[in-house]
This record gives sequence, structure tokens and C-alpha cells, in this order.
Amino acid sequence: MINKTAAIIAAAGAGNRLGANLPKALVKLLDKTLVEHAVANLAPIAQHIVVTAPSGFEDEFKKVLGDQVTVITGGVLRSDSIRIALASIPNQYEYVLVHDAARSLAPTALAKSVIDQLVNGEQAVVPVLDLVDTIKEVDASGYVRNTPDRSSLRAVQTPQGFTKSVLERAHQASDDATDDAALVEALGVKVKTIAGDERALKITNKSDLSRALEILHPDSKVKLRVGIGTDAHAFSTDKNRKLSLACLTWSDEIGLDGHSDGDVASHAICDALLAAANLGDLGSNFGVADAKYAGASGAQMLAESLAKVKAAGFNIENVSVQIVGNRPKIAPRRAEAIAAISAALSGAAVSVSATSTDGLGFTGEGKGLSAIATALLVSA
Ligand code: CTP
Ligand code: MG
Repeated sequence: MINKTAAIIAAAGAGNRLGANLPKALVKLLDKTLVEHAVANLAPIAQHIVVTAPSGFEDEFKKVLGDQVTVITGGVLRSDSIRIALASIPNQYEYVLVHDAARSLAPTALAKSVIDQLVNGEQAVVPVLDLVDTIKEVDASGYVRNTPDRSSLRAVQTPQGFTKSVLERAHQASDDATDDAALVEALGVKVKTIAGDERALKITNKSDLSRALEILHPDSKVKLRVGIGTDAHAFSTDKNRKLSLACLTWSDEIGLDGHSDGDVASHAICDALLAAANLGDLGSNFGVADAKYAGASGAQMLAESLAKVKAAGFNIENVSVQIVGNRPKIAPRRAEAIAAISAALSGAAVSVSATSTDGLGFTGEGKGLSAIATALLVSA
């Protein structure tokens, strides 16, 4: 096996079904393109790797793959691409793996199992999976012709492995086939099946990309966390205290009492953020005893709350706050309030609404203001 294995990675397709506006093999999956993943997985097994690129994209392929592989121009059909690549492999190689870049996450161990069989004397080896669905053979008018026995059917994956001489003969003898083993079967050479691997799925449609991401990061499912917060303060007896509300100053309105600037809207949002990340509440994070927060602005406390939820591994999906009271009228300055809160939260999506309480309660009697907020966090 040492220095005897070459690999062809078929990557010259357009990727029409994925519809990414660039060849499928150049589509990124996390940190690497599909073709880079495929190369990385085969590199420990194959000492020589040929990648077929779509005409016109050779330089881009070379740029992402570097000198570790040979990039050649593919053909019109997949089997053309394989034939051209095969002809470029030097004679010293005894075994050839034929792989689809579209099966980017086929693990190295699968390629190794294929080669092990060739070393043991097999001439052609394919990884297969049992079928989940019953398969029907259907005629051109849409009528079932036949139902093959599912227990004898298998779905075929790549990398497929061949002795170089058998693969050359197969490609000389026949034209097109979507898999190389079919050409070898046509020669009458026995093709051995081995257990395939779910990770060798063929990335064809958009939904396959999410499946591939799950394979790369099994725990990467996004976590959503919702939190709720309220705050209330009485209007100050100090008629000169200006109102701070929703990160704005309201010069014609009397301010709210409070250890800080008394901005109930900002404080309710801070509570909601901290609650969503299960980090306690405003009091436990910015205690009244802490002189640092005496006179702290709502914007400052929002920024600090954001820093805490970020440190806990979350980003803000959105926050929503409702201000409860008779005045000030929020609607005329709603856009301003949204922009100011959002700026304090590094551009988070914010909504601000308001309501009066029909003369009921301390807000209805004009004694103070309250606010209620929700925050939705998403794991970073
Ligand atoms: N392939 C190739 N040369 C071709 C056609 C296809 O090398 N002329 C490669 C593809 O890049 C892919 C593999 O063969 O890695 C399997 O083909 P498929 O999954 O059908 O990919 P695409 O042809 O790119 O996709 P689509 O059919 O959706 O356009
Ligand atoms: Mg195709």
C-alpha cells in the first residue's frame, strides 16, 4: 500500500442542483470548500491525488488546493473526467481510488478499508449502504414494472477502489456510467462490496449541506434562549431631574428616581438579557451597593449586559421592550429610541412599544413608569 495508491477526485461538475452560482466543489462547508474536505480526507491514504476541475476554474482550484494535488480540466460527463484523470496517473501506482468531491466528508477510514481489500487481492471495491426505501422499477408511462427485493439492493458510495489496470480496461471498453464499478462489472470482473458510511453522503441539494454541517459538528445545533425582565421607578420629587428613558434624554419630562439613571426600559432589557443567559438579574450583576453603577446610564448597563451574555456564549437575536405609563408619548421618538438601544447593544434588532393602563395602578395615576422586556439569545 505504501506509495502505491493514487486518487481521482471528480470535481468538474457544475452543481446545478445545489444552485450556488459557483461549481459545487468550491462551495464552502465551515472553514473549507467541499473539494478541500475531500482532499484532506484522502490525503493520508493516497500519495498522488488528481482533481478534475470544471473548465475555466482550474486556477481557483489550484489556489485553494495548493501544490499537494494535480488539478486537471474535467470532461463533459463524469466518466470523461475520470478517463482524463486516469490517463494522467503515473505508472508506478497500483491502486486507484475514484471519489466524488460531492462526498466531501467520506472519512479517511473508509478509504483505508477500500484499499485494504485491494491489498488483500480484490480488483474492485465499493462501499455500500442498505436501502431504507423500497425501490420500484417504473416504465416510461409511470407504471410500476417491477419491485426488486430490497434485501438484495444497496446504495453505492465513493471512494471506490480499483487496481489501476482493471480501471483502465473498464474505461477503454465502455463509455458513460455514473459509477466506475458499473464499467468494471461490464468487463466481468467481480466487484466486492464493503460497509459504507453515513458520512460519505453525496452533497447534491441545499438540505444536504445542513446534514453535512451536522456531521462536522454533531453538537452544533443552535440553542435559543428567551428571557424576560421588568422594571419600575417612581417619578422624582426633584423637578430638575431630567427623564432618561430608552437611552434617550427627555428634557421636558421629570426624571425617575433610581440608583442609576432610572431608565426602566434599558433596565428591563438588561434583566431580560441576563435571564435569557441564566446569569441572574440586574441586582445580582449590578448591585445597588456597587458605587460603580451610581448614576450609570441605561446605555452603559446595556453594553455591560451584552458583554456578559456574549461571554456566556450567546448573541442577541432580538430584544423587545414595552414602556408602561401615561407620558412621555413614545411614538414620536420610537425610531430614535430603537436606534439608541440598538447602538448600545452593538446593532442588535430592537423593538420599542408603549401602553398606558387606563388610569389604573401607579403608572395610570402618573406616579411612575414601568417597562417589560423580552430578549431572545442564540448560541454563538
Ligand atoms: N463530475 C465531474 N465531471 C463531470 C460531472 C461531474 O467530475 N463532467 C463530478 C462532480 O463534480 C461531483 C461528482 O462528479 O463531485 C458527482 O456528480 P454530481 O453529484 O452530479 O455533481 P454535479 O454534476 O456537480 O451536480 P449537478 O448534477 O447537480 O449539476
Ligand atoms: Mg451531475
